[in-house]
Amino acid sequence: MAAFTTLSVNFRSLSAKLIALGAVFTFVVLGYIFTIGTSTTITLPEFPFFTETRVRSTCTPEAYARGSWEYRPRTNKTAMTNKDEALEFAGFQGCASSREYYWHLAADNEEQWDRFPDAFNYEWVPSDECSVRDFKPEELLKDLVEKGGWLLIGDSITEGHFASISCLLYPHVIATPDYNKNPYFDRAWPQNMYLNPDSPLVQRMKLPRGFNATGTPLVTFRRVDTLLTGDELTDLHRTLYNPPDDFKLISDEAFWALSPEEYVRMFTDPANHYGTMVISTAGHWTTTLFSGYRDEAAVDAGYGIEGVVEFFGHAMGKWAADVQRLLDEAPDKRMRRQVVVRAYLPGHEDCHDHRKPWTEVQPFKWNWYNWANIGQFNRVFERVLSSPQFHDIHYLGIDNPARLRPDAHVSSDCLHIMGGAGVLEGWTHYIWHYVTREVNARIR
Ligand SMILES: *[C@@H]1O[C@H](CO)[C@@H](O)[C@H](O)[C@H]1NC(C)=O
Ligand SMILES: *[C@@H]1O[C@H](CO)[C@@H](O)[C@H](O)[C@H]1NC(C)=O
Repeated sequence: MAAFTTLSVNFRSLSAKLIALGAVFTFVVLGYIFTIGTSTTITLPEFPFFTETRVRSTCTPEAYARGSWEYRPRTNKTAMTNKDEALEFAGFQGCASSREYYWHLAADNEEQWDRFPDAFNYEWVPSDECSVRDFKPEELLKDLVEKGGWLLIGDSITEGHFASISCLLYPHVIATPDYNKNPYFDRAWPQNMYLNPDSPLVQRMKLPRGFNATGTPLVTFRRVDTLLTGDELTDLHRTLYNPPDDFKLISDEAFWALSPEEYVRMFTDPANHYGTMVISTAGHWTTTLFSGYRDEAAVDAGYGIEGVVEFFGHAMGKWAADVQRLLDEAPDKRMRRQVVVRAYLPGHEDCHDHRKPWTEVQPFKWNWYNWANIGQFNRVFERVLSSPQFHDIHYLGIDNPARLRPDAHVSSDCLHIMGGAGVLEGWTHYIWHYVTREVNARIR
């Protein structure tokens, strides 16, 4: 208040004016410093030499990923007595996606119900350097409508992410296809979330022009395990290494893939109204799928996995160049479109023996699949994306929270992550924060 008092006196001399000006300046600068820790958009007071609005980063992916799981139960119940209690423990009213409903919630195997409710009872608390947007489902919904939907491109782990979003946004969204009517859709089948016209929240919303409530997807999942097709990968491998004619890079192991030519065009098609493409890959980059690299003798060297990692680096370089070119070529640029690459995750080897989060990531014991190398794949992808030429593609190293949750897997394996434990929901929270708050803070 002292500054205002100084200002209200009549200025009798130049020195009084200078002192007053200095006081105002100090006041503005202090205000600025105090705001910076807590708020995202810093609007400086109207003043001749400070008129622009600046946006600063408030929670980098690194700051979010540092933190710990805190025990914060939503319920006083101490045991699970029926499958639907999983929803209550997780704080969901239901889930819109009907695909493998109780499998996603890890509630399908009664023998493991002693894991609950505890597996639902932890909350990720990021480090002090992170001031993340409070998560409110209705605000995410509004941003999906106004700023553009999310196109999720990845493998079955990403499919779990889609299922989790369908719970966070329930009952305001509906999901297709209906797996209750037909459980046999191939994994390649697109899954979509749309506004639920019966939701009172949706009825109050003002839709942007061209937005079709029943036809414009808010979130879409496409199953794409390797980000490039088998043919694209084989061609790239030939160009790089000129192998013998009978060389076979890829085995007959099942995997699903589309070309970026297809899904980036889908992403940039203005009729689809997408704003964010969420990417993740690594799980299928094994020596069993990329059997051309398999070396049965190299037991201690992951059966030739280093070769797969090296090729992965080249493939992701091509992928990023293709994606950035397709984004640059997109005819309609009214929508701000961003690609985020979420770090991939290994599983936890003896996951069903665990009943609480770790405080530190523990070493692997048995080297299952390519789990011990996932960190390498992530670092390679991060390095590729650090090039300034890929200015619309951002690497999000937010894998640490999940790595600390051996207790948060589905009942049937130790790779897939259950909905409601806070892991998948944390991805949604941070990605939403990142695309609505952080991306604009980065100068292009
Ligand atoms: C748990 O029980 C206490 C004491 O009865 C009550 O105050 C609290 O609201 C309950 N918490 C929940 C989440 O139901
Ligand atoms: C909105 O989408 C639905 C479902 O795809 C479609 O049947 C309908 O024709 C669309 N309406 C408009 C105005 O495009």
